Amino acid sequence: MAEPKKLYIKTYGCQMNVYDSERMAEAMGGKGYVTTDTPDDADMILLNTCHIREKAAEKVYSELGRFKPLKKAKPDLKIGVAGCVAQAEGAEIMARQPMVDLVVGPQSYHRLPELEAEAQKGRKALDTDFPEELKFEHLAKRPKARRAPTAFLTVQEGCDKFCAFCVVPYTRGAEVSRPVARVLEEAQDLVERGVREITLLGQNVNAYHGEAEGGAWGLARLIRKLAEIDGLDRIRFTTSHPNDMEDDLIAAHGDCAKLMPYLHLPVQSGSDRILKAMNRKHTAQQYVDLIARIRAARPDLQLSGDFIVGFPGETDEDFEDTMRLVETVRYGQAYSFKYSPRPGTPAAEKDAKMVAPEVASERLTRLQELLNRQQFEHQQAMVGRRASVLFEKAGRLEGQLVGKSEYLQAVHVVAPDSLIGQIAEVEITEAGPNSLGGRLV
Ligand code: SAH
Ligand code: SF4
Ligand code: F3S
Repeated sequence: MAEPKKLYIKTYGCQMNVYDSERMAEAMGGKGYVTTDTPDDADMILLNTCHIREKAAEKVYSELGRFKPLKKAKPDLKIGVAGCVAQAEGAEIMARQPMVDLVVGPQSYHRLPELEAEAQKGRKALDTDFPEELKFEHLAKRPKARRAPTAFLTVQEGCDKFCAFCVVPYTRGAEVSRPVARVLEEAQDLVERGVREITLLGQNVNAYHGEAEGGAWGLARLIRKLAEIDGLDRIRFTTSHPNDMEDDLIAAHGDCAKLMPYLHLPVQSGSDRILKAMNRKHTAQQYVDLIARIRAARPDLQLSGDFIVGFPGETDEDFEDTMRLVETVRYGQAYSFKYSPRPGTPAAEKDAKMVAPEVASERLTRLQELLNRQQFEHQQAMVGRRASVLFEKAGRLEGQLVGKSEYLQAVHVVAPDSLIGQIAEVEITEAGPNSLGGRLV
């Protein structure tokens, strides 16, 4: 029998890309491809790219450059670019890097096998349409193999919010939700294959409104239904927008035991002036009040967030408002970025005053110091407490396993391999900035 062809996929960007890469690998599995961990022996290389900041997008071209010798040594090697850079730049990618055979945007992944066939015939293949049909419902089914205890499941894609800085509404398109029945089917299948924790994904996952009998369901109703699946023990969702945080979803944090006490709820800035310029459509106080309501429902909930510093026009006073908001809210974890102007977005088109790079860097350093301090405090507060840990894989040291607490913290424990895929009580004995250590109770 001929050796199967090998597919190397490198994934950048958000969790949705991770999910998409997995689905693309499965679709190509139907064409006889198996995945490989190295580009060196691959017959096809696929970069699943991110366009969110300039650095992320530029990485793609330097990575492509590195494949040149491989393509030279093996002219049959096919190179493809998928993801948000593919959507944003389309045919320009092939103009800039002629060894690229195939470009496919995020809404066209179900056409990847046809595009690969085109490329095999020596033709350049490109698809960056936003087709009517939903890609997931047309992608090949997953093989029934066992898999890791945690999985992503995309339930919603795209965004209608148009924050002034952000490319996502352009690269992922308008907001679409998958029908409830499809989501339940996929969740059931994952659980049958050993998955204990599912993270529901969407660019604005809490705007979910999936078609069901009797009308559309919101995210809270979907979560409650998923919670009925035997063997599914943990549910998470990401990423949410504050304006879509409806009452029943807040309530679910209080009364749905399988919904984990962790919420990623980006605010971007603590200044009303900047929030307005960003088109976030809420004030800092509204966000703070919202957090109070969520915490009233689930007092031990840990919050995560995203922040942008140096948005055009941001003054020292605006930045201090962000620092104050962080002090007020207190985050268990957070991501922060320097503003990066993105072609085609309103903020980049307007000639508002750019913040000097050294000022933006200094603000970012200060904000990150504060966020890191809060994260470390949250880590240390776990010492002496019990956490329930879902073990995922072998840890760094011999005999150790690593898993996640209900608050999404990494926990290292000496434990037998048989606990992989199981949830166990752990007494936390030590805390580092990014992980915890403990012993089985
Ligand atoms: N849908 C999510 C995530 C969007 S992208 C949300 O609404 O929050 C993830 C994060 O990248 C954003 O929350 C924002 O903090 C950051 N980001 C997006 N565009 C950016 C830009 N142009 N410059 C810097 N950071 C950006
Ligand atoms: Fe981007 Fe804003 Fe949509 Fe999030 S809500 S994806 S930041 S436009
Ligand atoms: Fe990046 Fe696209 Fe995700 S721009 S963050 S890969 S939606």
